[in-house]
Amino acid sequence: DGFSAEEMFAGQTGLTYKDFIVLPGFIDFHPSEVDLDTQLTRDLRIKKPLISSPMDTVTEDRMAIAMALTGGIGIIHYNNTIEQQRDLILKVKRFKNGFITDPIVLSPRNTIEDVYTIKARFGFSGIPITEDGTRNGKLIGIVTNRDVDLEKDRTLTLDRVMTKDLVTVREGIPLAEANEILKSSKKGKLPIVNEKGQLVSLICRTDIKKHREYPDASKDSQKRLMVGAAISTKLEARDRLEALIEAGVDVVVVDSAQGNSHYQIELLQYMKKHYPEVQIIAGNVVTMDQCYNLIKAGADALRIGMGPGSICITQDTMAVGRAQATAVYQTAKFARRYNVPVIADGGISNIGDIAVALAIGASTTMMGSMFAGTSEAPGEYFYENGVRLKRYRGMASLEAMEAGGAKRYFSEDLDIKVAQGVTGAVVDKGSMFQYVPYLVQGLKQSFQDMGVKSIPELHEQMAQGKVRFERRSLSAQAQGTVHGLYSYTSPVVG
Ligand code: XMP
Repeated sequence: DGFSAEEMFAGQTGLTYKDFIVLPGFIDFHPSEVDLDTQLTRDLRIKKPLISSPMDTVTEDRMAIAMALTGGIGIIHYNNTIEQQRDLILKVKRFKNGFITDPIVLSPRNTIEDVYTIKARFGFSGIPITEDGTRNGKLIGIVTNRDVDLEKDRTLTLDRVMTKDLVTVREGIPLAEANEILKSSKKGKLPIVNEKGQLVSLICRTDIKKHREYPDASKDSQKRLMVGAAISTKLEARDRLEALIEAGVDVVVVDSAQGNSHYQIELLQYMKKHYPEVQIIAGNVVTMDQCYNLIKAGADALRIGMGPGSICITQDTMAVGRAQATAVYQTAKFARRYNVPVIADGGISNIGDIAVALAIGASTTMMGSMFAGTSEAPGEYFYENGVRLKRYRGMASLEAMEAGGAKRYFSEDLDIKVAQGVTGAVVDKGSMFQYVPYLVQGLKQSFQDMGVKSIPELHEQMAQGKVRFERRSLSAQAQGTVHGLYSYTSPVVG
């Protein structure tokens, strides 16, 4: 029944995710038995096949932290200075669940007025005091509301009012233990110090309830969260690379709309020569020839897609690209021979698209629009016609190019800019901490329907022709989605 993937993609027409469907398999297991562990690059594995796109309206530190905690990975964009991008990486690498690693501190020479300023700006007043007022200085006290609230003279220096009798714990303590100590101390904050008595981090009473365990978190060998960063193929890339690697980036994405270029090949060779330990995701590519060149130059994974993104107009404007499902299938089949995983990037609009991309050979999926409306994406919410929205823009939209995104399209130094992307808005999706578990649960159920328990098993069965597919007519596609209702309640999320 149905067709093997090879048979289905043999025709002359490029297909995309909605043009076909996976036929059901046999169910003899519960969705909780499905394991979505997957290969991100040759050497790196992650527990969920989800990546957030390196776009300035999608991935900065908060998104990358949420992605890594929930089992995927975020790729920090490069529409910023080298220092800004490095700092975003550092924020992810220094993140410790439950521990505030960059607390606001004051020095004993600051005044009560300064405490009020901080309170007005950040809404809290439990502030550690270090000898020299630096974040990692020697901890000598703490100032809380009760130290300052009855004091009339706001010019008093903090050494006169701070609490010096401190409860602290030593660096390395597990969060659960620290929480217990905080509870029994009846204080609002618990400073964590190193053997020299210098401040390392802080835990807060008000945060205790928020702490959860993240057993699927993507972590490096030192138990820090994993994070990726994008660079362009321009000359500044080498300086950027050095800064990112120093900051501890786990994987670097060489970001180019058409990756098969001598610029990219030279950069890959340079990276492999100078930083052989760093994993590289190269791209974007959509054909086997393109893959061959980048694999030969040292790619550890390939990013697939040219023009399928929700904000992309590359295929229209340049008349170059490929239908996304065909691109993913052909490149994955080719790269598999070299043990190089592929990432299906762009054009994914719901759980079904993720499942299909994995079923035709992708090891992971990269999303922009699906994540851009979450609270962890950069930018503020706004309302249009009563709907809560966040801005989302293509990196080759005129707006983003002005901010630096033109590097991706070799058009940085051209006088006349031709947009290959648009600016728009997407609907509020709530927090990634609810959204990702929802996607994961949906994917597990999809795997159950296909009758496979893991991504390697899915790939193996697909390659052997055991996963069966079928093309869908336009009317079948219409029938396969909501139709014929006067009104319905939309599940806002994918
Ligand atoms: P989705 O569909 O998830 O796509 O929103 C995100 C992917 O789109 C690519 N991208 C662009 N492609 N013009 C393009 O042709 C653009 O301006 C643009 N900006 C991003 C990119 O691969 C991203 O991951």
